[in-house]
Amino acid sequence: MADQQESIAIAPPANVHVARVATVKHYTDSLFAFTCERPASLRFRSGEFVMIGLMNGPKPLLRAYSIASPAWAEELAFYSIKVPAGPLTSQLQNIKPGDEVLVGKKPTGTLVLDALTPGKRLFLVSTGTGIAPFASLIRDPETYERYDEVILTHTCRTSPELVYGADIVDETLADPLVGEIAVGKLRHITSLTRDAHPLQGRITRLIEDGAFFAHFGAAPFNPAEDRIMICGSVGVLNDMKEIAEARGFVEGSNNEPGTFVVERAFAG
Ligand code: A2P
Repeated sequence: MADQQESIAIAPPANVHVARVATVKHYTDSLFAFTCERPASLRFRSGEFVMIGLMNGPKPLLRAYSIASPAWAEELAFYSIKVPAGPLTSQLQNIKPGDEVLVGKKPTGTLVLDALTPGKRLFLVSTGTGIAPFASLIRDPETYERYDEVILTHTCRTSPELVYGADIVDETLADPLVGEIAVGKLRHITSLTRDAHPLQGRITRLIEDGAFFAHFGAAPFNPAEDRIMICGSVGVLNDMKEIAEARGFVEGSNNEPGTFVVERAFAG
């Protein structure tokens, strides 16, 4: 009887799948990536997020995570910080291949191609782990069908934090499905705020003073042709939103596509 009660008490709730971890890669003391099997019924659009977690005693502990793999991939990929006292990430950082994680059944989000009106250049502006949804979008062929140029920006504090993005871009360019089309269209522009780097400083400042565009010989933002997706900390979202709106961009959503979008799921 005791066994039966226990198994009832720890059963995951109906709104999550249980998925087996396939790979785990630690990038720094505070960053890691993992993949897990994709539940057969899980459908999502590249750029969306889903609730991810672990059982914590009898209860699930879940947080919103961008899916870092494209919609066509057989596995689900995630990129996470490790917060020493964080209720979930302090546990999640210890997962190993073969362990089970919980995956919510309803992926959603605004960093999707359909939330933007048609344009020519797509800017994917990220800081820190905010690059995750763009790791999905840059591997989706539809991104390149819709845009002439795809400019992924990634700003971190120190250079080891750029490695994940560099790996993903390399994988994209080598991918049999999207590599050929991405080679001519995808640009990866990195900046660092606390280490020496060819482009140094916050992306907001680099956009405002023009150094970002000068760095790769591009025209400044033009809301008639450019579209922007933004993912990072709350401060980055707010500051980038202000910059976009000051230049005539209009925030879009799934119901009403616009010329820029931000993801607020991770705020707070
Ligand atoms: P900084 O080093 O000047 O704080 P974090 O690791 O804290 O999430 O930060 C990731 C990157 O985002 C860092 O390079 C950080 O720069 C930058 N950043 C933090 N806040 C903002 C903001 N409000 N606008 C632009 N960039 C920011």
